[in-house]
Amino acid sequence: MAKSIFITGASSGLGEALALEFARRGYAVAVAGRRIDRLEALAARLLELGAAAALSLELDVTNFDTIDPALERAVREFGRLDVVVANAGVGYSLPVGRGKFELVRRTIDTDLTGAIATIEHALPRLRAQGGGQIVAITSVAGSRGLPFMGAYSAAKAGLHRYVQALRAEVRHEPIVVTELAPGYIDTDINRGVPNRPFVIPLERGGAILARLIERGVGHRYVPSWPWTLIAPLMKFVPAALFAPRPRKARTSQE
Ligand SMILES: NC(=O)c1ccc[n+]([C@@H]2O[C@H](COP(=O)([O-])OP(=O)(O)OC[C@H]3O[C@@H](n4cnc5c(N)ncnc54)[C@H](OP(=O)(O)O)[C@@H]3O)[C@@H](O)[C@H]2O)c1
Repeated sequence: MAKSIFITGASSGLGEALALEFARRGYAVAVAGRRIDRLEALAARLLELGAAAALSLELDVTNFDTIDPALERAVREFGRLDVVVANAGVGYSLPVGRGKFELVRRTIDTDLTGAIATIEHALPRLRAQGGGQIVAITSVAGSRGLPFMGAYSAAKAGLHRYVQALRAEVRHEPIVVTELAPGYIDTDINRGVPNRPFVIPLERGGAILARLIERGVGHRYVPSWPWTLIAPLMKFVPAALFAPRPRKARTSQE
């Protein structure tokens, strides 16, 4: 029986790149997200690439009650789910205290609570079938509160801690817990960002992520160089180095 994978946020970016990678490896692939038209087109492509089966599922991870029915549908179609990837995410630039609370809440609801809800519903299903792998996509931004990215950094740091706790909890069960923390991979989420240190192309990012998932690693930065060195050090850097330049004071003549 072919292996199977369920990926949230697969209508673009890393989720889509992962779906393509696993299709080429002959997996049965379930792609979930809000833009169902894109997912349907993607599912057709996955079959052409060699996927054992492909399923597109409309899913908003902030509508928590709809997550389990989507997982159930994939299990019903594929027989089992070997890998569940909590990948769906948003990333807005949100200065604190500037009237952006709705987007702050959407960030936490999607990147933290939505990912946790996905894992909460996936784990009982993996246990029931005798094992499987949970994958969480966090971020280097979780290593440090970055200016204008407070909600995003908080969500990713929170997800990192949740996954760390999960890994310890399931240590004696046949459950693999993988956390992948990208730096900058070229996708819609960061295309408007003026400065993207060490950015890598999407195809390369997808290939690295897929390889690490298949190897069943615990925690990795992506790409590993230079983030494995830089990310852990980020928390020791003085805040002044991350601070944006102060705005020029306006005079009454301006
Ligand atoms: N690219 C990077 O450099 C980078 C770095 C660190 C971490 N990450 C993380 O990688 C993950 C994927 O991001 P990406 O770079 O691939 O960006 P992306 O191209 O914008 O993809 C984000 C995906 O999440 C989905 N999504 C957003 N809100 C959703 C919701 N409420 N329910 C279901 N799906 C939702 C979107 O699909 P729909 O709009 O169709 O729902 C989209 O497919 C995110 O968790 C992001 O934080 C990316």
